[in-house]
Amino acid sequence: MTTDRTQDGKGSDVHGIFQKIAGYYDRMNFVMTLGRHEKWCREVAARVAPARGGQLLDLATGTGVIALEAARRYPTVTVTGADFSAEMLRRAKAKPGADAVRWQHADATDLPFEDESFDGITEGYLLRNVADLPAVLREQHRVLKPGGRVVILETCPPSGLVEPVVKWGMRVIVPLLGQVVARDRKSYTYLESSTRAFETPQSIAVVLRGLGFRDIGWRKKFFGTNVILWATKAN
Ligand SMILES: C[S@@+](CC[C@H](N)C(=O)[O-])C[C@H]1O[C@@H](n2cnc3c(N)ncnc32)[C@H](O)[C@@H]1O
Repeated sequence: MTTDRTQDGKGSDVHGIFQKIAGYYDRMNFVMTLGRHEKWCREVAARVAPARGGQLLDLATGTGVIALEAARRYPTVTVTGADFSAEMLRRAKAKPGADAVRWQHADATDLPFEDESFDGITEGYLLRNVADLPAVLREQHRVLKPGGRVVILETCPPSGLVEPVVKWGMRVIVPLLGQVVARDRKSYTYLESSTRAFETPQSIAVVLRGLGFRDIGWRKKFFGTNVILWATKAN
């Protein structure tokens, strides 16, 4: 591990990394996914499908790609983009269309929202950064209305025939891109290692089911390195 792990779990060092990489986050994402990230965010926004006039939460909104897409797609819905990195939120607020979103500083481990306040929740690349994944999903279940859907974009540990090639690419290419594009090899070494160590969609589905979600499904993307998962809170 190349980052300093704090004693209170992942929170503090992850927060520092995202504060640091906010300025070149979009550029790096574009390069690392060969431009596919925006397309996946559009799919996440399309799949959450909140009720007309409803409330949508985009958690770990970062520079706001999913939140902005959701606000554009659902003009009658109130979209809240929440993140614990003030730097990320600053970048999000400066983007075209940002006035259509409510931006809020919030920690996914302790959400500042009432029970059953949202018709839908989206999130991109949050779960692999948290120390207690079931607790973070439990918080989302708490603030979601019955019948509401959560849609999750995540990285996925590679498997199958392409596994050795993809693992090599991630271990070598991602930190190298971090060095070349962002002059920050260390932060991108963390992002690569947190991806390799992360859960499979099957194990996330087990947690979601245990919390009371149903209609759980997923689609892998980009040689199985990314995944979009969805689940509905039981009525
Ligand atoms: C890789 S970025 C993803 C941003 C955006 N969702 C996207 O798809 O481009 C992960 C984001 O999660 C945020 N994050 C990580 N842990 C968090 C937590 N416990 N509470 C709130 N935000 C968190 C980081 O600050 C960062 O902005």
